[in-house]
Amino acid sequence: MAMTIAAQVRRPVSGLFQEIETLQGERPWGRMLDAGTGTHSIGWIGTLPTEQWTAVTGADAHAVQVRDAIARHRREGDRIIVGNWADSTLLAGESYDSVLADYLLGAIDGFAPYFQHRLFARLRPLVGRRLYVVGLEPYVVGEPDSEAGRLVWEIGRFRDACLLLAGEQPYREYPSQWVVDHLEASGYRIIAAKRFANRYKERFVNSQIDMCAPRLARIADRGLADALAARGEALRAEALALVASANGLRHGFDYILAAEPA
Ligand SMILES: C[S@@+](CC[C@H](N)C(=O)[O-])C[C@H]1O[C@@H](n2cnc3c(N)ncnc32)[C@H](O)[C@@H]1O
Repeated sequence: MAMTIAAQVRRPVSGLFQEIETLQGERPWGRMLDAGTGTHSIGWIGTLPTEQWTAVTGADAHAVQVRDAIARHRREGDRIIVGNWADSTLLAGESYDSVLADYLLGAIDGFAPYFQHRLFARLRPLVGRRLYVVGLEPYVVGEPDSEAGRLVWEIGRFRDACLLLAGEQPYREYPSQWVVDHLEASGYRIIAAKRFANRYKERFVNSQIDMCAPRLARIADRGLADALAARGEALRAEALALVASANGLRHGFDYILAAEPA
């Protein structure tokens, strides 16, 4: 289906989870799978009346962060698993009432490159009742018209360039319509589609520029690294000035898709 989604005012991350709770309504959460876990999603799932949860990550470091973040609320039987969705044996034969894929798709490139188009079919046998997909509409593709959009776009491309030059894999986000099309082709029907306009503030600008410093330190060509560092500081100054004068950089959106087995 061609997706029609109404723009809404963006709320903090917990607001996205609150929206999922509204979509869930009175349905029981039952057994729940956090298919791309992290401290935010597990922190939220820990507050839900689930029967049991399983949290999957592709990285040992993420597993340690998640374990520490949820330690006080973790019950016997709640599991944290390090694995890869490209491995067909991962959670084979299991089924969950509720499955969350929270910013999982955008991170796949770092763990299973070129697997994105198979992700939702891979998760399909695990989805007993409902799948919630949370994602970020790509903002590093075409150059936007607005000044705020151009700065967000340029910061994203600068960050990705630094990651690539340091030998790392940047995230690769996918459009909500791409996700709708692949969900429908993978045996789901779409129940709801929502989007939340983004307004980027100082924290975004500083975190994206700051994360480049350790990457630039690894580049052998010091002239190139120094020129990039200077470019990052110029971008930071320009973006922070606009954040202050325009009360944030309004650009793009996050989305939630709710789907059920067809
Ligand atoms: C951006 S993080 C998710 C954010 C997280 N939900 C939070 O609340 O902070 C992406 C997660 O998906 C995991 N991931 C990415 N690709 C994966 C794959 N192919 N198999 C298993 N886990 C994967 C990463 O290891 C990480 O735990």
